[in-house]
Amino acid sequence: MVSVRTVPVVPASDRAIRRAADILRRGGLVAFPTETVYGLGADALSEEACAQIFAVKRRPRFDPLIVHVLGAQALEALCAPIDDRARRLIAAFWPGPLTLVLEKTSVVPDLVTAGEATVAVRAPSHPVARALLEAAGMPIAAPSANPFGYVSPTCAEHVRAQLGNDIELILDGGPCDVGVESTIVDLSGENAVLLRAGGVEPSQVESVIGPLGTPRAGDAPRAPGQLVSHYAPRTPLTLLEGCAGRAEPGRRVGLLAFGAPDPAIAASYTTVELLSPSADVREAARHLFACLRRLDERGLDAIVAEPVPHTGLGIAILDRLRRASAARGADAS
Ligand code: TXA
Ligand code: MG
Repeated sequence: MVSVRTVPVVPASDRAIRRAADILRRGGLVAFPTETVYGLGADALSEEACAQIFAVKRRPRFDPLIVHVLGAQALEALCAPIDDRARRLIAAFWPGPLTLVLEKTSVVPDLVTAGEATVAVRAPSHPVARALLEAAGMPIAAPSANPFGYVSPTCAEHVRAQLGNDIELILDGGPCDVGVESTIVDLSGENAVLLRAGGVEPSQVESVIGPLGTPRAGDAPRAPGQLVSHYAPRTPLTLLEGCAGRAEPGRRVGLLAFGAPDPAIAASYTTVELLSPSADVREAARHLFACLRRLDERGLDAIVAEPVPHTGLGIAILDRLRRASAARGADAS
């Protein structure tokens, strides 16, 4: 008898969310939408459940997970008492795309934090993520639902295409609104440090708690955002310094354009993906990973990417493009 695999993608109805919560409660994995990217979730307090995340993503165990919660109240169990900076940032940006790295309690398994004394926590704003947290009644550890090192998923189909055989259920909540991962701020030391630029602009964080430091050179990578090669398509990608010129003849080259390119220049490329017809960085962030995936599926010799303005979400986009353009090294598979 031929067994037909059921497609694990289901619209995120109340019933599907209850089913997802049941899977989480019995130690399974569920992919779910957040406002940033789709996450691959497991019970954050179960080392066994979280071990499956590392296996499915082929993620090295030195790379800790973000724990998702409904709000500040959940931190009482997971973290040491929080300080005024954390309180102000939570009041300003939660629920939303800001992850805080805080001193952890012993409740959080070492696997989740890669043995660090800190835990990364965020309260997502996506209604499906929140309904799932509520229904499951547990903190949910969730990295982006992609194989380690690859481009993050911003719709359910991206998750199915790569991890569909390994997860029981993918809740489909439509395309993600922000499109780049959360901003990560480390508050475990005296000086707040920006570990990853993301959905909340670093300047917005600074307007609440003052200047952010950057990680000291030589520190162990505290976030894969800091690994040189990450968020990378398989096709070699070059980040240009300015607007694209004509493509090199004789090669199959794809262009990732910020605003609408000159038609003659566009015609010289095998394919063009436009991040934002109105040249808006928010819209560009929303489209970034889907555009990169489409380019990666075209069997191109190369991708060239135009830079975006270094303002607002443009900072996070440029960070992802720089890392995608780095030669794929041993630090990300
Ligand atoms: O927007 C997001 O943050 C998405 C959605 C699903 O919430 N999640 C996400 O997870 O981007 P992931 O695994 O792709 O990135 C998690 C980041 C990693 O860079 C990891 O190193 C960092 O969080 N991180 C986690 N725990 C940490 C800790 N204790 N100290 C420093 N960095 C930490
Ligand atoms: Mg990721």
